[in-house]
Amino acid sequence: MRAYVLTRYGGPDAMELRDVPVPQPGPGDVRIKVAAAGLNPVDFKFRRGALRPISQVRLPIVAGCELAGTVEAIGPGPNRFSIGDRVYARVDKARLGAFAELACVQQELVAAMPASLGFAEAAGLPLAGLTALQALRDELAVGRGTRLFISGGAGGVGTLAIQLAKYLGAQVTTTASARGEALVRRLGADAVIDYNREDFSAVLHGFDAVLDLVGGVTLRGSFRILKPGGRVVSIAGVPEPLTATKDLGSPPMITAAFWLMSMGIRRRARKAKASYRYLFMHPSGDDLRTLAALVDAGHVQPVMDRTYPFADIGGAFAALEHGHAKGKIVVTL
Ligand SMILES: NC(=O)c1ccc[n+]([C@@H]2O[C@H](COP(=O)([O-])OP(=O)(O)OC[C@H]3O[C@@H](n4cnc5c(N)ncnc54)[C@H](OP(=O)(O)O)[C@@H]3O)[C@@H](O)[C@H]2O)c1
Repeated sequence: MRAYVLTRYGGPDAMELRDVPVPQPGPGDVRIKVAAAGLNPVDFKFRRGALRPISQVRLPIVAGCELAGTVEAIGPGPNRFSIGDRVYARVDKARLGAFAELACVQQELVAAMPASLGFAEAAGLPLAGLTALQALRDELAVGRGTRLFISGGAGGVGTLAIQLAKYLGAQVTTTASARGEALVRRLGADAVIDYNREDFSAVLHGFDAVLDLVGGVTLRGSFRILKPGGRVVSIAGVPEPLTATKDLGSPPMITAAFWLMSMGIRRRARKAKASYRYLFMHPSGDDLRTLAALVDAGHVQPVMDRTYPFADIGGAFAALEHGHAKGKIVVTL
């Protein structure tokens, strides 16, 4: 079968389209005929080698984190899926394999895709959708009336986070450039700040919670807009010790490194009487079922920037790495 194989860490040409053996489903796996695969910043961060210290992946490996397609083989043992099921998944972080004609995935990470979506829209949902859901529901406990600030609302995660936060009852303020303002308003944002024209941290105050999708100065500014007792969750800033213990299985060296790296940001949080957490999302079939129900009930709709043919994954990555996607970029097979 054809697959994009990451052969070394580097630039776009480090990923090659190759003929590779068909993967065989192990116990509890399903093999999925991939119809579409979503692209995410983690794909190019990983390709560049930025995640090497925390990754258990060995090269060469078939790349790709999320997909939608049809179950076409089932591994030994009990399995909740049947041949022909239309499914989607955020695949295992150590196994990858979504940029391929066929991919084997553990059934716990797979769910029936939303009945109301086509494959391309479904393929862009798992990674960003799980991230937004786990951050808002599990880490920020967003509920009715929560005053929430989301930085970077127009991208893959932001477009889903705005809709989920509105569904949970929050009042949402977000940042977007002029290119993204109409989109984030359509998704339900109550207030929008153009980050190219105005410093949100100078004009906002009294927020209960921040979901930071940008990092850097944006993350640092987030602590200035909070009430005492407020919460910041970042997915793009600085990892901290809980990231290691809750998300990475407590490797001692990594825990110590994250403790050191996050000293400045934790000091900032203490000064603001706020909490700080950096989240790595978790693949989960159960949470994908929750997302599918929300999509089919009309509460959340994926936003597509553009689809590319599988053969032009290079063009798709060039667009993603430009950093201005409005919603998701997906390749179709
Ligand atoms: N920790 C985790 O588990 C996890 C999971 C998912 C994603 N992430 C990370 O989260 C970040 C966002 O992911 P994504 O998939 O949403 O990326 P994305 O789709 O590439 O985001 C692109 C969007 O970001 C906006 N943007 C860029 N700079 C901005 C700024 N300074 N302020 C406000 N908006 C800005 C752009 O808007 P304009 O074009 O208008 O500038 C564009 O619409 C990435 O760093 C990604 O690696 C982490």
